[in-house]
Amino acid sequence: MITVNEQVFTLHTRRTTYQMKADAYRVLLHTYYGARVGSADLSYPIRHADRGFSPNPNEAGDWRGYSLDTLPQEYSSCGVGDYRLPSLELELPDGSRLTDLRYTGYERRSGKYTLEGLPAFFGGDEWETLVIFLEDAAAQITVELYYGVLEERDLITRTVRVVNKGDKPVRLCRAASLCLDFQRPDLDFITFDGCHVMERCPHRTPLRHGVQSVGSVRGASSHHHNPFVILCSRDAAEDHGVCYGAMLLYSGNFEAAAERTQLEHNRLVMGIHPYHFRWTLEPGAAFTAPEAALVCSPDGFAGMTHQYHRAIREHLIRDPYRGGRRPVLINNWEATEFNFNAEKLVEIAQGAAGLGIELFVMDDGWFGTRDTDLSGLGDWSVNLKKLPGGLEALVPRIQKMGMKFGLWIEPEMVSENSDLYRAHPDWALGAPGRPQTRGRSQLVLDFAREEVREYIYQAMRQILDSAEISYVKWDMNRSLSDVWSAALPPDRQGEVYHRYVLGLYEVLERLRQDYPNLFIEGCSGGGGRFDAGMLYYTPQIWCSDNTDAIDRLRIQYGTSFCYPASTMGAHVSAVPNGQTGRDTPMETRGVVAMSGTFGYEMDLGKVSQEERETIAQQVQRYKDHWDLIENGDYYRLSSPFEEGPFTAWAHVAPDRRRALVSLVTGSMRAAPPFVTLRIKGLDPDLEYRVNGEETYRGDVLAQVGYPVPILMGDYQSLQLVLEAE
Ligand code: GLA
Repeated sequence: MITVNEQVFTLHTRRTTYQMKADAYRVLLHTYYGARVGSADLSYPIRHADRGFSPNPNEAGDWRGYSLDTLPQEYSSCGVGDYRLPSLELELPDGSRLTDLRYTGYERRSGKYTLEGLPAFFGGDEWETLVIFLEDAAAQITVELYYGVLEERDLITRTVRVVNKGDKPVRLCRAASLCLDFQRPDLDFITFDGCHVMERCPHRTPLRHGVQSVGSVRGASSHHHNPFVILCSRDAAEDHGVCYGAMLLYSGNFEAAAERTQLEHNRLVMGIHPYHFRWTLEPGAAFTAPEAALVCSPDGFAGMTHQYHRAIREHLIRDPYRGGRRPVLINNWEATEFNFNAEKLVEIAQGAAGLGIELFVMDDGWFGTRDTDLSGLGDWSVNLKKLPGGLEALVPRIQKMGMKFGLWIEPEMVSENSDLYRAHPDWALGAPGRPQTRGRSQLVLDFAREEVREYIYQAMRQILDSAEISYVKWDMNRSLSDVWSAALPPDRQGEVYHRYVLGLYEVLERLRQDYPNLFIEGCSGGGGRFDAGMLYYTPQIWCSDNTDAIDRLRIQYGTSFCYPASTMGAHVSAVPNGQTGRDTPMETRGVVAMSGTFGYEMDLGKVSQEERETIAQQVQRYKDHWDLIENGDYYRLSSPFEEGPFTAWAHVAPDRRRALVSLVTGSMRAAPPFVTLRIKGLDPDLEYRVNGEETYRGDVLAQVGYPVPILMGDYQSLQLVLEAE
């Protein structure tokens, strides 16, 4: 996978090649990333020509053709002649902010490097690691560039370790996880953006001169932009064109910035957002940037999606939830909000019993004085007025109905009206003498601080030990503000955002060690922290607080570019939908929700017999096809963002002998057009039986298509089960 030849480093995956080269001045150049080619030195197209106002390194003497400003860099320096986006910005003891990195050596290792305290892809011999060592001799700083290569999945992971070898502290102002220079002009930038209840909608724009960037300064990866972006050729589509996915395994502030340069080349830099980031590196200390993961697909988005999905399922989601079926759940939130007691919960559970539902989730409102969202966060003891006898009494009642029990918790937050806040007001983020900004009427606990983490961890242990709890929905319902920690001196306040995320990861990891079978679903007002970093700890994430089936088509479509169905929490809820007021048929809501990890979020104590039968059938259908849905290859067959008669997608078995195709129509019109659905991913030579009836060859379904029957009414749906003869 990795070849080294005279300072030319070539990484090969099954279908791609990545190359860099240390040149005569020991500058590490990026020479190629794209479809697989041999290991020859690919630096020949790089020109050394004088460009006005692009200065020359000292050792180049009067050779004006050599400038860091025009060369493709592997990890860009700062303030010494490259005016494009920097990767590393330091503030040195003498006040200078210069970084000049030169190659000093490399190491090749079998297996994958590991990271302490940060999420990372894992695995054994199927990986190889390359470490390249750079140094800034004047600053006495070394930079180690790590590359993990997973050949079968076309995945290249990267991370960066910065070490202070000097005898004085150094400040890091930026330490990007990846820099990627493209010696081509014609690239589009695709980002996944939105807001609370409308997350991860794709936006595509040609790169233009200057910098285009997305990011988050909210302390969480956010509903608004996702730490996953794509650069692609202008012609790229689902099954053609070259595309490059760049994903950051990080759940806090991030930035993905793309710059079109004077040479009509493009640079992508991605990592922790430099906003309010100042990290002190004491002599001898090291800083590790979060991991980034690249997939290049030479033939379109579908191939990139499949490689990310497989890599996430196989090398990021940890046991025992790797590849396994997620429990079908019922959650009481939309049915009751805060207004419930044990009897109401039992009524909903009784409604769910016998339908094949396996897990009952008690949502917000079970603790402290939590009768509204104005109080109670931080007081993680059961409200005995609502739940007499506590969890010890409630959980066995649920279990007797054949379901496991899970609960909601929001560990990172505190209400001012809580015993915790009254006892420890300084445990909330907030600067002295400045009243804090509230979000959802709550404050944020200082997870950068050890005693706060310890308290919350112990509180969680008490709950988890008090009854048989097999699932936790870990929520986080506001953006950070007033970011200042009482535990750090003034000159280290720039560390709080990152220390908060490290603190969060630490608590999650401890819980994982102590409760290896506990299933944690991530949540942040739905999908406000839907990122690969969280997936390392929480194998599934509530995709959005928006449960409207038609809006969900868009949200799940955007999410699918990088994240597999097995990570997307999706529920059937009541109509008219609380977010949109829209009515959609029960069948359609089921079809959309079962394309993620399936569940219900409605008052099952109150549904009709007919609805009960539909639910039982839907649950059974999900169980019949879960393996396809969660472990199959996902094909986007049409986009919900484009005008068209329907949105369709398919889950295809890896051996292509089975597929589940789903389709949802928009609003109906009279005299509807006759339409066919062309199905991707099938074996062209196999004959498929569709829903146990007629058969079609795979190539015919791909080229001619399946004749979609006219589905009367708005927002109808259709599912096709394809089985090879
Ligand atoms: C967030 C979650 C919801 C629900 C509420 C409870 O908004 O996304 O699913 O748990 O909090 O307050």
